Amino acid sequence: MNAGKERAFPKDSPDISVRIGPLELRSPFMPASGTFGYGREYRGLVDYRALGAIVVKGLSLEPCPGNPPPRTVETPCGMLNAVGLQNPGVDYFLRNHLPWLRDLEIPVIVNVWGKTIQEYAALARRLHDSGVAALELNVSCPNVKAGGVHFGTDPRALRQVVRAAAEQTDLPLIPKLPPLLHETAGMVQAAAEAGATAITLVNSVPAMKVDVARRRPALAAVTGGLSGPAIHAIAVRLVWQAARASPIPIIAAGGVATAEDAIEFFIVGASAVQIGTSIFTSPRIFGDLRERLLKYLLESNFSSLTQVVGSLVEKPEA
Ligand SMILES: Cc1cc2nc3c(=O)[nH]c(=O)nc-3n(C[C@H](O)[C@H](O)[C@H](O)COP(=O)(O)O)c2cc1C
Repeated sequence: MNAGKERAFPKDSPDISVRIGPLELRSPFMPASGTFGYGREYRGLVDYRALGAIVVKGLSLEPCPGNPPPRTVETPCGMLNAVGLQNPGVDYFLRNHLPWLRDLEIPVIVNVWGKTIQEYAALARRLHDSGVAALELNVSCPNVKAGGVHFGTDPRALRQVVRAAAEQTDLPLIPKLPPLLHETAGMVQAAAEAGATAITLVNSVPAMKVDVARRRPALAAVTGGLSGPAIHAIAVRLVWQAARASPIPIIAAGGVATAEDAIEFFIVGASAVQIGTSIFTSPRIFGDLRERLLKYLLESNFSSLTQVVGSLVEKPEA
């Protein structure tokens, strides 16, 4: 593939730009937090112009060392990770990563996490006016002991987190929810009521793997988050459910490896799609997805991606 080179599409090629609140993205594809570092790690491998936005690894107020190794292990059709939200802290990011990212002229979505509502508010205050495009509020990490997932499973706590952040910034707020199998509708409605611009669905699925020879957990943290193609069908169902529960825009994540996987997400109601685990095996996936999505739209006579979003036909075939 031609990393760094823009592919030529005819002038009348379908429109794949998307709008999420005030965010205007030239492409619906973006990396999922934690799988693309702070962007420059993929220099030379990725055609950045195929990205609609860059979502960076989760940031906290202070640096965080994460969990001890081993922190990742492969599973059939996916991987388990318990990185534990390792990051250099928001101030380091602002000084050392953001200037480079801003030069790309791609919207930067900053994923943040805190142990308390006040920490989310302080992060929002710190990032307001920094030049980032939006904040993705990670309220769903399965790999930390405190905070994180609690805010993503209790609608009251979620409302409080979103409102506390909104008091500090008018940046778009995008809570990232866990793959809840039962309360999705209530959580999505809570996010919308609290003033979120969009939601991201889903974070990785809590899971565990055992090293049979050693009779020990494969991960030092014992449990971790399952990601990759193994979780795609779970995520499709949750995005479909969320889209029926609320008109809030959805950024879908979970197991996208092919354009067909992404198109499934659009059909059930996602406006944009994040790609995580597949980047590790196919760093050039973004260019391929863009090309294949355009081909699909052309062949299906759609002039714009928005015509596909939420176009699921639920009636049985006549
Ligand atoms: C190694 C690794 C690190 C991750 N770190 C974060 C993180 O810092 N914040 C976050 O919200 N999600 C994080 N995630 C979850 C992904 O952003 C994504 O929601 C999940 O992996 C599902 O997408 P995928 O199947 O395409 O990987 C991480 C996932 C992986 C595999």
